[in-house]
Amino acid sequence: MIRVAGTVLKLEEINKSFGGIHALKNVQFELFEGEVHALLGENGAGKSTLIKILTGVHRMDSGKILIHGKNIVIEDPVDARQKGIGAIYQELSLIDSLTVAENIFLGHEPVGNFFGNLKKKELTRRALEYLNTFGIEIAPETPVSDLGLGQKRIVEIVKALSINANILLLDEPTTGMSKAEIDTLFSIMDDLKRKKVTMIYISHYLDEVFRVCDRATVLRDGENAGVFKIGEVDLKTLIRAMLGRTLKEEFPRRNGFPGRETVLEASEFQSEGMAAPVSFKLHRGEILGITGIIGSGKSELALGLFGVDRKVAGEIKVKEEKTAIASPSDAKKRGISFVPEDRKVQGLFLRLPVEHNITIANLALSMKRGVISYKRRYEIARETAEKLKVTPLDVKMPVQNLSGGNQQKVVIGKWLCGATDIFILDEPTRGIDIGAKTEIYSLINSLADNGAGILIMSSEFREMSGVCDRVLIMRKGSVVSELAGEELTTEKILTVALGG
Ligand SMILES: Nc1ncnc2c1ncn2[C@@H]1O[C@H](COP(=O)(O)OP(=O)(O)OP(=O)(O)O)[C@@H](O)[C@H]1O
Ligand SMILES: [Mg+2]
Repeated sequence: MIRVAGTVLKLEEINKSFGGIHALKNVQFELFEGEVHALLGENGAGKSTLIKILTGVHRMDSGKILIHGKNIVIEDPVDARQKGIGAIYQELSLIDSLTVAENIFLGHEPVGNFFGNLKKKELTRRALEYLNTFGIEIAPETPVSDLGLGQKRIVEIVKALSINANILLLDEPTTGMSKAEIDTLFSIMDDLKRKKVTMIYISHYLDEVFRVCDRATVLRDGENAGVFKIGEVDLKTLIRAMLGRTLKEEFPRRNGFPGRETVLEASEFQSEGMAAPVSFKLHRGEILGITGIIGSGKSELALGLFGVDRKVAGEIKVKEEKTAIASPSDAKKRGISFVPEDRKVQGLFLRLPVEHNITIANLALSMKRGVISYKRRYEIARETAEKLKVTPLDVKMPVQNLSGGNQQKVVIGKWLCGATDIFILDEPTRGIDIGAKTEIYSLINSLADNGAGILIMSSEFREMSGVCDRVLIMRKGSVVSELAGEELTTEKILTVALGG
């Protein structure tokens, strides 16, 4: 193989199957030195699988990996690190009980035994040096369990950098990050680019791709669907390559409109997790958005309303009736469904099949004369999975074998197939591809058109203005503004949420 000038990494004819699923089919990929290269595609397209082959987590079935023109084999993650390949995975890999410093150097302590008392200081000092280089203000002694999701991702990135990687793989790194954290990430990436570190960047947020990437490779159903220069391609062309069709309208129109009846009312309500009391009314047939930047208190409100966190003040009325919601099961009994933000922890039984996960919250639906009807359960799960475009559409498959985005769809499906009429959805489209998002919006619309009241917590302002009838904006735990009608625009939300 002749070395192509400027090519750091080349993949040829990569194939990978998991059982009957052919996840990567003859995939070609080429990375130029110093570029940020986007890897795009729908949920299940094969992006994470490709990354995991490069980091030695998965073995490819056939194909070639060339680094600087030289054919290499990547044995395992340690081997990948030694070859200068660092990665930040879609699922976080930090250990909660260790400190930031310990996590950063875990597995490749700089010298000697760093976990001995004597060396602890040195470890902290080195970590601080790293954190400072990238302008990150997190104390190295902080236990990782005390960090927010966005900060954890930043630590994960510093950890990947601490091996002096010259190829860095970032799989949806901005998930759960605040705008400020994303800016930090992007400036770290700029810095790395100057140091000639080459990066592969996976994201469902195409605005990020346009901001930081030089080129993009698109995968569709495990096959190549085009390589584009970001400076020369438009959004529509990228989306068409990803989906194999053009997206008609991102935010489908609703048929119905909100009614007068209040289905959920909070009056000066505050739970132990919330910084301040909150009041609002949700009407039948209404899609009410609650937005704000990360840390504004949206998720805490959601957890309080669903009875996960204990109430400390105020009251809740469900369908005009004063109700004590002391636990999630109380909330469910009152007809409230909840899609949590942190789906991995709160939402799924990873080893169980899709059908169990979808039906577990509503076992009654799959009962026939007091026993579970397996046929009924299968049908319900299959129908829900179909609506959400879960791929592969095999409800007997353990959830852990699904791609990240498809796992998210299962959590949503679990709650949507219930017979409830109040929904609390926390970041319902996070990690979900642009085509499937539209399906979820349609589903939310039809729930509302059928008389459900829907509360959506989201930090995607465009989504809020595109989907909701009315939006409440939170800042530091309090609702500071309400927008509806003509006033409900992305720009307006942005201004208010950021404190304008
Ligand atoms: N460990 C596994 N066992 C079985 N199938 C798997 C496994 N890992 C991935 N797959 C399958 O391989 C295909 C590609 O998955 P992959 O995780 O690479 O998708 P992705 O492009 O990263 O999607 P997402 O945007 O949802 O993260 C999917 O059909 C998935 O179900
Ligand atoms: Mg993935």
